[in-house]
Amino acid sequence: MTSQNIYILAIESSCDDTAASVMHNGKILSNIVANQKIHEAYGGVVPELASRAHQQNIVPVVDQALKKAGVNKEQLSAIAFTRGPGLMGSLLVGTSFAKSLAYGLNIPLIDVNHMQAHILAHFIDEADFKKPPFPFLAMTISGGHTQIVKVNSYFDMEVIGETIDDAVGEAFDKSGKILGLGYPAGPEIDRRAKLGNPKAYAFTKPKVDGLNFSFSGLKTAILYFIQKQVKANPNFIEAHLDDVCASIQYTIIGILIDKLKLATKQTGIKHIAIGGGVSANSGIRQALKDGEHKFGWTTYVPKFEYTTDNAAMIAIVGHLKYLEGNYADQSVMASARLKI
Ligand code: KG4
Ligand code: ZN
Repeated sequence: MTSQNIYILAIESSCDDTAASVMHNGKILSNIVANQKIHEAYGGVVPELASRAHQQNIVPVVDQALKKAGVNKEQLSAIAFTRGPGLMGSLLVGTSFAKSLAYGLNIPLIDVNHMQAHILAHFIDEADFKKPPFPFLAMTISGGHTQIVKVNSYFDMEVIGETIDDAVGEAFDKSGKILGLGYPAGPEIDRRAKLGNPKAYAFTKPKVDGLNFSFSGLKTAILYFIQKQVKANPNFIEAHLDDVCASIQYTIIGILIDKLKLATKQTGIKHIAIGGGVSANSGIRQALKDGEHKFGWTTYVPKFEYTTDNAAMIAIVGHLKYLEGNYADQSVMASARLKI
């Protein structure tokens, strides 16, 4: 029996990163991401500017991904692309490009759900990373998403909790903005939190029923707290920045861990996989490790380059759908609010 060579080219353009990746039989050959620096000046992603930058970047990024992989367009088995959820203008660029290329090469087109991809990134073939067994719980935490998903098999997933307002990454970024930190503030808060006292200031956790999350109240509480302190001492932020960062991070992690505890209790599942940019946070990583000892959890953290927005995670979904012959029609459309 001759083994099959499956080459997937994957495109991701749901938010502000233009990304392309080439995968061979489940292994990543290249994973290229062009970050859009332009948004830093605005303190957040500006959708109109993101679409324009995608249009500018997409061909060079795909070209680089193919060259780095040492693969010709003619060798490709299929083109996978992010159909949603995300910003419509951004999604349109990747979707239209993928459709045209698949049409031109006369090969299958495969649509991918970005949220499923964050979860299935755990199945990219990487020697040092263990794959979670089904069923497992996935917590996707980033600047755009906060979800807990019960994953029964590759394509049987159920969202059992999600944010009703801001995403957890926004809680970091908006708190950072109040403190005068640059965008995105998550990594800086993480760095400073290591130097501060997490119990210096107490912020009340939101009361949200079940497995849903809310972060907008925390942001307001931090704003009022800082305004009050600065009124009494104009140098408060500079003098206590590390303690404030440590306290904010401690509160956010507490919110995430409380919901994970509830989710494991409700489902009886103790395998927990995380994904999304916030999973880089050293505090959440430590809290998950602690959960292994305290609650008998087994936790899974993917390789960092597969956890922030990237096309390798789109490629693994493309690969799995290719094996099933689950292709998209050329009339497929981007969907900003695509559900799992
Ligand atoms: O997955 P990602 O790169 O993009 C999307 O939002 O989809 O996630 C970016 C988010 C930002 O909110 C950023 O502040 C946060 O991840 N982030 C962190 C850390 N690194 C990135 N938040 C807390 N601690 C970190 N070390
Ligand atoms: Zn994402």
